[in-house]
Amino acid sequence: MASDDHHSAYGIETDSMTLQRYVIQSQKKHPSATGDLTNLLTSLLTAFKAISSAVRKAGLAQLFGIAGNTNVQGEEVKKLDVLSNELMINMLKSSFTTCALISEENEQYIEIEDAKKGKYIVTFDPLDGSSNIDCLVSIGTIFGIYRKVNEGPVTGADLLQSGRKLVAAGYCLYGSATMVVLSTGHGVNGFMLDPSLGEFILTHKHMKVPEKGKVYSINEGYAKHWSKGLTEYVRTRKFPEEGQKGMNQRYVGSMVADIHRTILNGGIFLYPATKDAPDGKLRLLYEGAPMAFLVEQAGGLAVTHLGKPILDIVPTEIHVRSTVFMGSKTDVEELIEFFKKYDNIQ
Ligand code: AHM
Ligand code: MG
Repeated sequence: MASDDHHSAYGIETDSMTLQRYVIQSQKKHPSATGDLTNLLTSLLTAFKAISSAVRKAGLAQLFGIAGNTNVQGEEVKKLDVLSNELMINMLKSSFTTCALISEENEQYIEIEDAKKGKYIVTFDPLDGSSNIDCLVSIGTIFGIYRKVNEGPVTGADLLQSGRKLVAAGYCLYGSATMVVLSTGHGVNGFMLDPSLGEFILTHKHMKVPEKGKVYSINEGYAKHWSKGLTEYVRTRKFPEEGQKGMNQRYVGSMVADIHRTILNGGIFLYPATKDAPDGKLRLLYEGAPMAFLVEQAGGLAVTHLGKPILDIVPTEIHVRSTVFMGSKTDVEELIEFFKKYDNIQ
């Protein structure tokens, strides 16, 4: 049997770019790098693989008995979001690279014990899209990585940094395949999990959000709470004026899936204020800012209802919320024009 340069006679790629290899390679470009970020990302990948396996119910037969009717011996099956949170915390703690963790699942931040302390702060939503978990719709993990600002104990200045200070951010999407999308501030790359290897392989190089898209993505059930500007924007997508093109609507209800589609295909994702939540529902530190970082790195725009970049917001507390409008540059710019015309923003 013949084999070419990087394919063995068994059809196995012998030189594929794994996420770990990609990160090590990027680190080599910075001679001063200690390798901590590489170790941190490697520990995150382990958590993603374990979450992916749990989401896909690998090992289900062990839990329920092979015939599907016996239950696990008295042991309660952990809920997926709780399990995912424990995995993220344990993997990050044992990487010896972090000093504080901020999770959607924990009211307070988690301070890492001295013996395991490192210089990074990681914010995460371990399993976003909670309402989609039980009905088997795509869900994801979102994360942001910040560097500690000062020496000494963790302070508010370390925990409450704007998205502009992100060292890296990304998500892992548990969809019809599992994929990590990552930026360390030099563009965006996507890595698909090859389950036969247990490795994330670079499949989407230099991801770019198309300048203009065909899809708007919003929960229309809250339309009665929208501002005039947003109402008019959505109306004109549905009923375009003569000579203008309308848009399609898609809304999974899992931010990771909706943003992944937006980065790949273009368009706009919107989570505005609702009646009870003047800053919307999504949290800045582990939903809005990491996604805004990716979208900007991919050439798109990400703003609030005031038309201000999400990455410029300095959080006032760790679970603070922000309205979110992000995606293709032209689509977001068009939306801002509606905010200016009808909502009196500057
Ligand atoms: P969660 O963190 O409780 O899962 O909520 C976040 C999710 C996002 O993934 C999604 O964009 C949004 O909530 C959907 O909210 P809604 O059901 O109000 O449209
Ligand atoms: Mg969430």
